[in-house]
Amino acid sequence: MVKKIIQKKLIQKKSFKKKLVQKKSISKSLISKEVYVPSDDSFLLEREIRKRNLVGKVCLDLGTGSGVQGIAMLKSGASFVVCADINKNALVESKKNVLKYLKETKNFDVVVRFVETDLFSNLKGVKFDFIVFNPPYVPSEKIKWVDLDGGKEGSETINKFITQFVGHLSSSSEILLLISSLNNPKKLINIFEKKGFFVDVVSKEKLFFEELFVLSIKK
Ligand SMILES: C[S@@+](CC[C@H](N)C(=O)[O-])C[C@H]1O[C@@H](n2cnc3c(N)ncnc32)[C@H](O)[C@@H]1O
Repeated sequence: MVKKIIQKKLIQKKSFKKKLVQKKSISKSLISKEVYVPSDDSFLLEREIRKRNLVGKVCLDLGTGSGVQGIAMLKSGASFVVCADINKNALVESKKNVLKYLKETKNFDVVVRFVETDLFSNLKGVKFDFIVFNPPYVPSEKIKWVDLDGGKEGSETINKFITQFVGHLSSSSEILLLISSLNNPKKLINIFEKKGFFVDVVSKEKLFFEELFVLSIKK
């Protein structure tokens, strides 16, 4: 199953690159503009969000992609959600899916904002009760595919997140962070604990070539 997903992703990447070669006028930077299709990692995280009561919470779906986690937050009762991504195309997709969900459920009593941002750079001064991040975590030489590539140990974006999130927490925040066995989980958990946070592994799933973990991080 997972092997198939990886193969599919590689095929998608290859065919996309092929299209780029055919359409020479398209800038190479478009390579990283695909929107992440929800996969096993997304669904594991989504299930964990759905266990929570988010009524009255200010929520952040960081790296929103298709908006799958933002929608899970709304399903769990959130009435204020920020869907944020570095990729403009992801925000278009997220907005489309969130608005479709709100229309279908006739839920017009909520506020959802869509913010283009590199992690917290455009969220200055905003504090959240609940932050969810399914980061790009695949180990890679360089960060070329912004939805997948996590650089060294797959942790480059996660490490940047760790240096920025603290200033965006309310007094009773919870963070759900998706990581993989490819990311040296012990090292990452240790970093959070050294910063004075309590970390629980609240969900895990063994896949063909990795194990996924959802960390719940609280003060
Ligand atoms: C693995 S995908 C997850 C998408 C979606 N949340 C899900 O669970 O299916 C990672 C997402 O993070 C976004 N992303 C990567 N680096 C980012 C950054 N520095 N700041 C904000 N978003 C980022 C990507 O564009 C992508 O949409």
